[in-house]
Amino acid sequence: MCILFYCTFENSLEWRKNIKKKFKNKSIISINDRNKFDKVDIAIVWNLPNNILKKLPNLKIIFSLGAGVDHILKLNDYNGTPIVRIKDPLMGELMYYYVLSQVLNFQIGFNEYKIAQNKKIWRKAILPPFSKDLTIGILGLGYLGSIVGKSLSKNNYKIIGYKKTKVKNDKFKMYYNNQLSIFIKSSDIIINILPNTKNTTNFINSKFLSLMKKKSLLISIGRGSTVNEEDLLKYLKRNKSFYASIDVFQNEPLSKKNLFWSLSNINITPHVASITLINSGIDLMFKRYSRYKKTKKIKSDVNLHKGY
Ligand code: OXD
Repeated sequence: MCILFYCTFENSLEWRKNIKKKFKNKSIISINDRNKFDKVDIAIVWNLPNNILKKLPNLKIIFSLGAGVDHILKLNDYNGTPIVRIKDPLMGELMYYYVLSQVLNFQIGFNEYKIAQNKKIWRKAILPPFSKDLTIGILGLGYLGSIVGKSLSKNNYKIIGYKKTKVKNDKFKMYYNNQLSIFIKSSDIIINILPNTKNTTNFINSKFLSLMKKKSLLISIGRGSTVNEEDLLKYLKRNKSFYASIDVFQNEPLSKKNLFWSLSNINITPHVASITLINSGIDLMFKRYSRYKKTKKIKSDVNLHKGY
C-alpha cells in the first residue's frame, strides 16, 4: 500500500523527502499517478483538489498537514474518512510566541511609538498596564488555543474564554452561548483562533467590534472567514485607539490593492502564527499510523457535526 501526498506549501519537496525517510516501507505517489490510486491507504494532504478522494477506494486515513481540517471538509468528494490533524505542542509554542509578541506590542504601546517615529516625533512616554490588569479573551479554545491560554496565564494575564456550548474547563473562566457580549466587554485583548465552519463565518463583525473596549486589540490567527473584513476595515479607520494583528485573511495572499495595508493600527502577517513543523509533524503522523497498523482502528480527530 502507498501514500498519496499533495501539498501546496513552498517546502513541499522537503516534506515529501522526510515523509519517505520516516515511512520507509511505503512508496509515495502524487495525484498524477492515477494507475496506483487503488494502492493508496493513507493520504497526507494540504489543499487537495476536488475529485481525487473519490478515486481512492482503499483510503483509510487522511492526514492534514496542519492543525486545520477545513481544506479537507470542503472537498466535494469528502465522504467521512477518518481525519488526523497535527496536534504538535511545538506549533502551540510558536503560536504563543506570536501572540505574546502582539500582546506586548500593544501593552507597551509600540504601535504608537512607531507612528511617532514615522513623523520624527520624540513622543511622551506611555505607562504600560501591568499584565495582571489585562484580561485576554480567547475565542476557540481547541488544542492550540489552550496551549496559548495556559502559557499566557503564566505571565499573569487574566485569561477568559468563550464557547457556544458548555465544556469542562477548569483552567480559565468561561463564558457560554448568550454571554458573548459580557465576554467581549470584559476583554482588553481578544485572540480569535476560531476554525472555519458554517457557524463561525463573519463571527467578528461590526456588532462584535462595537462591543470591544475603545482601546483594545484583536489578534486573529484562526481562519480569515471568521472576520467580516469590510466591517473590520471600517472599524479600524474610525477608531484609532483600536488595534488589530491579523495573520489570516479571507483571500490569501492578501492582494496589493487591499486597503488594510495602508492603515497604521493594523499589523499584518502572512499566515505564519503557527507553522507546521516537518520533523515533529511527521513523527506525530507516523505514531498515529503505527498505532493504526497495530490495532486496525483509527479515531477521527474531527467531529463532523461541529465541522472541525
Ligand atoms: C493550520 C494552519 O491549520 O497553519 O495548521 O492554518
